[in-house]
Amino acid sequence: LKVAVLISGRGSNLQSLIDHFGPVITGSPIEIVLVLSNRPDAFGLERARRAGIPAVVVDHKGFAERAQFDAAMDARIRESGAELVVLAGFLRLLTDGFIALWQDRLVNIHPALLPAFKGLNTHARALQAGVRFHGCTVHFVRPEMDTGPIIAQAAVPVRADDTEETLGRRVLAAEHRLFPLSLRLIAEGKVRVEGERAIIDDAAF
Ligand code: GRF
Repeated sequence: LKVAVLISGRGSNLQSLIDHFGPVITGSPIEIVLVLSNRPDAFGLERARRAGIPAVVVDHKGFAERAQFDAAMDARIRESGAELVVLAGFLRLLTDGFIALWQDRLVNIHPALLPAFKGLNTHARALQAGVRFHGCTVHFVRPEMDTGPIIAQAAVPVRADDTEETLGRRVLAAEHRLFPLSLRLIAEGKVRVEGERAIIDDAAF
């Protein structure tokens, strides 16, 4: 499966996808054909280049309208031959039009157990709420922020002495396992959407 990865920053999730799927892993079900960043200074671009993956910047600041920015991204993604678009720390809201074009072929990773803690600062809010478990979610994207059919989740415990930083590190480590696992399931054709729920056809789930 040809995949485009969209990023805005450090790209540690991108790195975990590179480590799991290549370009140098033989027999990988996933080929990362493009890394696209809306920010020219995203460190993830450097990770892509090091791995020999085409990396491009589509700077949102160069566009007056969101729709034009999304159309420019869509054009680059289509040129790359990608069949699936992966949001890995991509910090721009996408237009409904773009999301419709990639219906059920657009996935996001969110650092909380959705539908809890949509939006930003999820670790601080989890600590504030006093939840005993926190985690991350991989889901298909729908127009409303941080909603859409859930593909997989990983939970981590919240410890009494956790800070935003220690909890965040635990969740990020879980993300680095969950994202490749989820994309593998999709690439193997084991994920389908029925209504607004994702069904996994795998005995392990
Ligand atoms: C991750 O926590 C991801 O869940 C969120 O943004 C962060 C991106 O981190 N959407 P990185 O750029 O992958 O290191």
